[in-house]
Amino acid sequence: MVVPNFRIKEVEEIRLISKEEREKAIKKAGYNQFFLNSEDVLIDLLTDSGTGAISKEQYSASKKADESYAGRTSARNMEETINDIFHSKYVIPTPQGRGAEYIFNQIMTSKGQVVPGNIHFDTTRAHIEYAGAIGLDCVVDDIYDTEKEVDFKGNIDLDKLKDCIKKYGRENIPYILITATCNSGGGQPVSLENMIKTREIANEYKIPLFLDAARFAENAYFIKEREKTFKNQTLRGIVFLMMLQFDGCLMSAKKDGISNAGGFIALNNKELYDKLDELKILIFGFNGGLPGTTQEIISKGLREAIDEDYLRYRVWEIKYFGDKLIENNIPIVKPTGGHAIYLDAAKILSHIEKKNFPGHALAAELYLEGGIRSCEIGSLLRGRDKEGSDGISRLELTRLAIPRRVYSLEHLDYCVDIIKKVYERRENIRGFEFEFEPKRLRHFKARFKRLE
Ligand SMILES: Cc1ncc(COP(=O)(O)O)c(C=O)c1O
Repeated sequence: MVVPNFRIKEVEEIRLISKEEREKAIKKAGYNQFFLNSEDVLIDLLTDSGTGAISKEQYSASKKADESYAGRTSARNMEETINDIFHSKYVIPTPQGRGAEYIFNQIMTSKGQVVPGNIHFDTTRAHIEYAGAIGLDCVVDDIYDTEKEVDFKGNIDLDKLKDCIKKYGRENIPYILITATCNSGGGQPVSLENMIKTREIANEYKIPLFLDAARFAENAYFIKEREKTFKNQTLRGIVFLMMLQFDGCLMSAKKDGISNAGGFIALNNKELYDKLDELKILIFGFNGGLPGTTQEIISKGLREAIDEDYLRYRVWEIKYFGDKLIENNIPIVKPTGGHAIYLDAAKILSHIEKKNFPGHALAAELYLEGGIRSCEIGSLLRGRDKEGSDGISRLELTRLAIPRRVYSLEHLDYCVDIIKKVYERRENIRGFEFEFEPKRLRHFKARFKRLE
């Protein structure tokens, strides 16, 4: 039993529309969950990004925000907090994580280059590709075995990384990126030992090493829980040791910043900072597109996100959800990660071919059965490779992401019941094909038709 560290003071009414209405709504959305109206969704587990509940401290800080164009106290508060937590010297604020990815890759990456990482998130890969480069996954193979219970399935495979550097040449690798936790592989953490060893390789070849820090706090908590060497460290201490290994980080503050907007790049290299900051002003403006209110929310949110009591409850609630599904023999990614449950759609819907998107088909059924919105993390999200052939993913998952401090255990119990119902009738579930397929980040705007 874990002690909760929050109570809920403001509520929002939600409603389960009828089965006929749900059928109509998802059909109208072209079977794409991103086109569903939020009022037609009962439990929204589409993402944990920007969907957390803000605390009263965040709210009252936002009420005192300074909205001056320049020299704002709110901007300085955000900068000081980031430099304090991430041990950086310079901060470039951005509207959200992908804004940071855009300017970073426009400056760092050029045509024909390769960016290795564990598994790049979809927008990260898209920005690497938009800059003309290739994102290469060098994650440990354990991650592809959803049943295998390994502590740090998000780790970089050091041999794969070295092979990649040898194959493409260090001059063609602008930087290495570790995403912690690894969202596209089940929210699995990366060990501090693995970060240290990756740093050694980066040093050997003189390649900068950056962190995708969207879920840095959840990752730090797993390090404390699972890595014996660091169990007596404070979370702040672990974050410090993590950041020592990196040249800087890219952050979506909508996750472990517990904000509904915002992102940033934090780093120590002045020359690189100047280049990135110039592009930031050009594209997003002086404050990186952030109002003072958001800057205040992020300053408080980052500190709340590394509170050990909060993290203990957060990680426990995800495990609670996962354990209930495991008790009912429903295949999920094991062990449970930091921010979501990932159903193993390839196993649950083994009769649906990858090209017909089993993870997407399962997500559609969860909505039809009980008004739950989730999303596919598999071949649909992966998209086509540069030559246009299907980028088939090794994992076909349906992610149920848990917004921070929003849902109770009863909401999760309801989801378990719905997942059980869908699982029982899994043999009759059909796959999908495209009615419309966009070129980039296709899962956001595609429309589908169900196979007969
Ligand atoms: C690991 C990771 N990196 C980057 C991003 C992009 O952040 P944003 O949605 O704020 O643009 C996300 C978003 O979900 C993410 O999960």
